Amino acid sequence: MINDEPIGLLGLGAYVPERVMTNDDWAEYVDTSDEWIIARTGIKTRRVAADGETTVDLAVAAAERALEDAAIAASEIDEIIVATDTPEVYIPDTAPYIQQRLGAREVPSFDLASSGCAGFVLGLDVARSRALSGGKKVLVVGVELLTRLMDWSDRATCVLFGDAAGAAVVGPTGEGGGKFLAFTAGTDGSQAEILGVEVGGTRRPFTLEGAQRGEHKDIVMKGREVFKEAVTRMAAASREVFTHAGLGVEDLALVVPHQANLRIILALQKQLDIPDDKLAVNVQDYGNTGSASVPLALWEARNEGRVGAGDLVLLTAFGAGFHWAAMLLRL
Ligand code: ACO
Repeated sequence: MINDEPIGLLGLGAYVPERVMTNDDWAEYVDTSDEWIIARTGIKTRRVAADGETTVDLAVAAAERALEDAAIAASEIDEIIVATDTPEVYIPDTAPYIQQRLGAREVPSFDLASSGCAGFVLGLDVARSRALSGGKKVLVVGVELLTRLMDWSDRATCVLFGDAAGAAVVGPTGEGGGKFLAFTAGTDGSQAEILGVEVGGTRRPFTLEGAQRGEHKDIVMKGREVFKEAVTRMAAASREVFTHAGLGVEDLALVVPHQANLRIILALQKQLDIPDDKLAVNVQDYGNTGSASVPLALWEARNEGRVGAGDLVLLTAFGAGFHWAAMLLRL
């Protein structure tokens, strides 16, 4: 449970690369079709980073928008937390590069590395706990440049993903301001082998032969198992935060689920009985953008005027690990 300190969102930002890739574009690379992709995933387009663009470029663009939205300078940030599965380099983590590019002070900056699609919501709660100590302002970024690291010949995975970044500034909001109301998260490591990239760690280090086969780009994914678990875990986590806060769907202005697949989102909608006008869906435009998906969807919904100050919002996410999380907040 979260205590009564008024800690919440001070600002939001997001960035997507310009290049749009359609399902028909994918059909030029793999044996697939617009019909199959739309029927199984709801995805129509996704964004692909330009050749020169890297993870930090996407992250900094989103972070600068979040800082502007919060009306604070980079020098006022006290900590930086980055959730990503697609780091700038292997070592160190991506946060130091973002700290330097933003011109932030020498503040603690670290990644929730490889935390999968739940990483941003997990990061919000870490930021909340850090903000409680001494009124810190914490920048949280969810960023993925998955198209650079995935196998463009594996039709079972490549059509699902897109590149994007989302960011939020978390800190004290003052009397009557926004506030995190309840949070829950969990991990089931017994399912760690069902979704991920195995090559590159100590268990299966890079080898020349492996690299020639392209195995470092192999995404392991048991799609149907991921699908079922995603719905079950996001629904259970959402119910848990409702119970903590003594609130229900009827009190909310918007539910922002992780945008992995339209069918997953619709199954969650059914389980929680969410009316259409209270559900954020943009997976058709951006595909699965991993840890960027929740802040991107929230940012878009806010910019479209679907939510604003004082509104109650539920965020929920699920991904590799398996990790899941849900956060109930007042904007
Ligand atoms: N185009 C055409 N056919 C394809 C494609 C494609 N891009 N990909 C797979 N197929 C084929 C398969 O080879 C299979 O053919 P077969 O029947 O001849 O063997 C057929 O389509 C059906 O494949 P399934 O895997 O059974 O299809 P399913 O209905 O389960 O849909 C999907 C697959 C979309 C991956 C679904 O399981 C899913 O979305 N699962 C969740 C996975 C996910 O979201 N992963 C992202 C990371 S985790 C996260 O963000 C929560």
